[in-house]
Amino acid sequence: MSGSRSAKDFFRPLAVGAPTPLTEIPARPSRAIHFFDPSNPKMAAKVPDMVGTVDVLLGNLEDAIKADNKVAARDGLVKIAQETDFGPTQLWTRVNALDSPWVLDDLTTLVPQIGDKLDVVMVPKVQGAEDIHYVDRLLAQLEARAGLQKPVLVHAILETARGVANVEEICGASPRMQGVSLGPADLAADRRMKTTRVGGGHPGYLVREDPPSENGVANIEASRATYQQDLWHYTIARMVDACAMHGIYPYYGPFGDIADVVACEDQFRNAYLLGCVGAWSLHPKQVTIANRVFSPSVADVAHARRVVAAMGDGTGAVMLDGKMEDDASLKQCLVMVELAEQLAAIDPELKKQYDEVEA
Ligand code: GLV
Ligand code: MG
Repeated sequence: MSGSRSAKDFFRPLAVGAPTPLTEIPARPSRAIHFFDPSNPKMAAKVPDMVGTVDVLLGNLEDAIKADNKVAARDGLVKIAQETDFGPTQLWTRVNALDSPWVLDDLTTLVPQIGDKLDVVMVPKVQGAEDIHYVDRLLAQLEARAGLQKPVLVHAILETARGVANVEEICGASPRMQGVSLGPADLAADRRMKTTRVGGGHPGYLVREDPPSENGVANIEASRATYQQDLWHYTIARMVDACAMHGIYPYYGPFGDIADVVACEDQFRNAYLLGCVGAWSLHPKQVTIANRVFSPSVADVAHARRVVAAMGDGTGAVMLDGKMEDDASLKQCLVMVELAEQLAAIDPELKKQYDEVEA
C-alpha cells in the first residue's frame, strides 16, 4: 500500500526512548482474567490474597464502575499495584473507552505510576486499527517519559459491529497487540441483537427436527426435538482466526449469570475447543471454572504425549488404538503438550496430575 509504514518500522519504538516493541507475544497462562473494582475497598482488600490463585488480575475502570467512582477506581488501582507483589500473576487493567472523558487520564496516570507492573491494557469498544494506533503512540510517549524497560501490551475488546468487521486489521495494528476478548453484552447492543443477557445462550435461538410424516402429511404439531444453538459461534471463530493469523491470543469475555456455573462452563468450554486461551471471571467461582476448562484434561495430555512419542521425527503415519495419526494430528497434540507444559510451570497441582499420568 502506498504511504503505509515499512514492515521494518513496525518494530521500532513509536517515541524516542520508548522500549523496543516485542517481536513475539509471550505465551503466559491467562485462563481466567479476574475483574475487580479498585474503588471498592472490600474487593481491593481481597486482591493480595488472590495473587497466585488466578492467572490475571484486572483492575476495571470502565463499565460497571459508576461515573462518580472513576477517579477513585483509577487511584485505587495505582495504590493496589504499588503495594502488591504480584508474583506469577499478571496485572491488567481495562481503561475507559477512547471516546470517554476519562481514558486520557487513565493512561497518563497509570503508565507513569505503575507502568512497570502493568502487563496489559485492555481497550474497550475498539472499532478499527485507528483506535489501536492512537493508543500505541500514546503508550510509547508515556513509556519513554517514564523510562520503562518493557512495552505495555494492548488487548482489544471485540464489542462493536465495526470492530468485528475490522477484527483482522485490529489484531495486526501494532506489535503491542496481545489478544482480543469477545464482549457479548456491548456487541449484542451494538448489533441490535434481541437479547438482554451478558453472554451465554438464548432458549429462542434453536433448530428443530423435521416433523414426522403421517400418511404422507407432515405433522408439524408433533413433539419434535429442538437444539439450542450458540449465538457466539461465528464471532468467536472469526476472532480466533484473526488472532491466530497475527500470533496473538483470543478470549471469551464475561458470563453474567454467576449462579449458573453449568452453563458458564459450557460457554467457556466451547470457546476453549474453538481455540480461545481463557475467559473473564466476574466472581471467584468463575476463576475455578476457567482454570479447569482452559487447562487440557489429564487424559488429553496423556494421549497427546503418546502420539508425540509414537510419531518419532514427526513425519509419516502410525496407527494408535485403531486411529490414524499423522503430521497434522501430531501438530494438534503438540499444541496440547505445549499448553500443558506452560500451565504446569505455574500450577504445581496441575503439574502433579500431568506428571502422574506420564509415570
Ligand atoms: C464486555 O465488556 C461486554 O460488553 O460484554
Ligand atoms: Mg463491554
